[in-house]
Amino acid sequence: IGIINTWSDMNTCHSHFKQRVEEIKRGVYEAGGFPIELPAMSLGEIMVKPSTMLYRNFLAMEAEELIRCHPVDGVVLMGGCDKTTPALLMASFTMDLPAIYMPAGPMLRGYYAGETLGSGTDVLRYWADRRAGLIDQKTFENVIGGLSRSAGTCMVMGTAATMMSLAETLGMALPGSSSIPAVDSGHALMATATGRRIVDMVWEDLRPSLIITEASFDNATIIDMALGGSTNAMIHLIAVAGRAGIKLDLDRFDTISRKTPVLGNIKPSGKYLMEDFYYAGGLPAVIKRLLDKGILHKDVLTVNGKTIGENNLKSLCWNDDVIRTFENPLTKDGGIKVLKGNIAPNGAILKPSAASPKLMQ
Ligand code: FES
Repeated sequence: IGIINTWSDMNTCHSHFKQRVEEIKRGVYEAGGFPIELPAMSLGEIMVKPSTMLYRNFLAMEAEELIRCHPVDGVVLMGGCDKTTPALLMASFTMDLPAIYMPAGPMLRGYYAGETLGSGTDVLRYWADRRAGLIDQKTFENVIGGLSRSAGTCMVMGTAATMMSLAETLGMALPGSSSIPAVDSGHALMATATGRRIVDMVWEDLRPSLIITEASFDNATIIDMALGGSTNAMIHLIAVAGRAGIKLDLDRFDTISRKTPVLGNIKPSGKYLMEDFYYAGGLPAVIKRLLDKGILHKDVLTVNGKTIGENNLKSLCWNDDVIRTFENPLTKDGGIKVLKGNIAPNGAILKPSAASPKLMQ
């Protein structure tokens, strides 16, 4: 079993991967397999310049070649920080060897001076204050310390949390895995369970081509809308689907968006953070709400050999403010709007739930 590990000292989002890979290996051994760790480019969003986007396809190619050139029968894909997830999925779809994705999980909530802070917007707000001389360097450093206080990805519903959720929705990760905070003990258990499962997937010859269908991409798009997920997900989903020979376009996203309310009350669209989302029931609770309304395709297969419907039959929600109901959504229609016009003849994407009113004209 190859374990593609996107760990590096420069990627704080994956700083727990040194430990997690050992837990995955333990699971592989438990199931009777033999684990081989294969390091791959890490793509830490914070340090890689000019943009990790430049290297998404590069990582996809590297992962493909790692799978191709080594004598492995199945692979565990360790990713989470923004571009790593789509890159690893792209590689696994192209190679079509039994593959399972292990999401890095989000970091814990940010705190500073009694205020809960989220990655991204809140950093930029304090950075603007620092540049304007409204706060001193020491205060700014305290803010940063409070914001990034554990291993794991950004803890808002940014690209990382969105893509981890979509990988699970596509059926490529164990049910419930993508919402577990990186440093929660449940994350370590999930890593071991992932290692155990890939061995069985090899015996069952359960390949991505048996899991991935047009319906699974519709599901991923619906979940992206319901979470108020990242607009970058559109870019990545199109690329990932392309590797499976499935064509997605902006009109399809638009149609789905118009039918799907935003239920995830998570920054930057809403109020809470990924840790709150996990305590509220996480992705399984959202999937259950959409299944109950008949919006998701329930019969698509996932890595555990069961359908998404079977996996989430009994999922519960513990907080209706974090994961809203259909009767009380964050916004009535979806997370994105597709715009067309003379500035962007081929289309552009706007995330209305995170946009200021002046952008709506
Ligand atoms: Fe890694 Fe945001 S910097 S997920």
